[in-house]
Amino acid sequence: AMATNSSGKFVLVTGGAGYIGSHTVVELLNKDYNVVVVDNLYNSSYEAIRRIEKISGKKVHFFQCDILDGPGLRKVFSQFDIYSVIHFAGLKAVGESTQIPLDYYHNNITGTITLLQVMKEFNVKNIVFSSSATVYGDPPIIPIPETCPTGSTNPYGRTKLFIEHILRDLCVAEKDWNAALLRYFNPAGAHPSGIMGENPTGIPNNLMPYLAQVAIGKREELSVFGNDYKTKDGTAIRDYIHVVDLSLGHLAALEKLNTKPGCVEYNLGTGHGSTVLEMVAAFSKAVGRDLPYKICPRRAGDVTNLTADPRKANTELNWKAEISLEEMCQSLWTWQTNNPEGFEGCDPNPPAEC
Ligand code: NAD
Ligand code: WQD
Repeated sequence: AMATNSSGKFVLVTGGAGYIGSHTVVELLNKDYNVVVVDNLYNSSYEAIRRIEKISGKKVHFFQCDILDGPGLRKVFSQFDIYSVIHFAGLKAVGESTQIPLDYYHNNITGTITLLQVMKEFNVKNIVFSSSATVYGDPPIIPIPETCPTGSTNPYGRTKLFIEHILRDLCVAEKDWNAALLRYFNPAGAHPSGIMGENPTGIPNNLMPYLAQVAIGKREELSVFGNDYKTKDGTAIRDYIHVVDLSLGHLAALEKLNTKPGCVEYNLGTGHGSTVLEMVAAFSKAVGRDLPYKICPRRAGDVTNLTADPRKANTELNWKAEISLEEMCQSLWTWQTNNPEGFEGCDPNPPAEC
């Protein structure tokens, strides 16, 4: 039978306390999906769950559980009538993955296999997976269609690539499995409420959270990694997508799984590329003053251009990124000024019963 948001069945969200997961849980709750969240809180705070509850006005079913913990997952699957999983849980720092590759392969790949085994035991065979544009390596075609050859240059990217292969093999071997591999481009921005957003610990790896910390005075200046790329201003091009648009792509993918498509890949991007200097200008405009930056050498492993061709998702998922770059910058700035320390200072732990 077709499961929908009104069916009483649950969507399990792994990594639901994280940046993209928390925004997706809000959109699911807004559309009356029943949601249960599993997160080990390794890279997040229980405060994200409190904020989700504040925004949605609903109580979140939460379990502090590692996806490597099969028995822990079985407990969750036996308590809730789950029909689909949105799988965000994973480690995501590219640089760190080159330092501790075993941790990345174990957490991301073994964690996913553990999750899939438990899903199979409970006859849950629909999964939406967080893949990444990084699976395209240095792409030969811009904008990038899903048919572009894949290949990755770092352990993090290879975990995404391997998991894509695992899910594809599973859907070939067992025809009742359905998997949506969502290749995210560069998520940025925060929830329009101003109380939920990205909460990086330590020095941010990514451009937009780093810029936000420059703007509030936590960091002196942005290092622009390379101005000798073959682009209009010499800086690299990415496809920045608002995290709320990205979240809505997951709801569209869930709907798609109801049509039993097997394994399907979708780019979730806007189709519009921006250079680093264009992003600096756009964010400076939201802040209302120029932000300091210096030109530095290229960062190892960076490519010139990652811009999505999102037409497959536009057509087949009936989904399109619609929020402007201005709104992305504005929401990030509102979040950053209202929460200069992110969720620091809030209790990171769930109540005892979780
Ligand atoms: P995030 O770190 O904010 O969220 C991931 C969540 O997973 C965290 O809350 C973390 O505590 C949890 N987690 C990690 N390992 C776990 C485990 N073994 N068991 C249970 N929970 C675990 O990251 P995000 O930016 O929200 O990314 C979500 C997903 O999307 C990740 O898989 C990431 O690789 C992927 N992705 C992110 C980006 C990006 O730029 N943010 C781009 C492409 C793909
Ligand atoms: C964007 C641009 C940098 C920081 C990464 C992962 C990818 C996915 C998204 C998880 C690049 C430049 C950055 C800075 C800079 N993550 N930059 N100064 O590298 O496109 O993608 O996050 O799945 O897999 O690789 O994102 O935000 O780090 O960089 O000049 O301090 O900004 O060189 O051109 P990236 P990013």
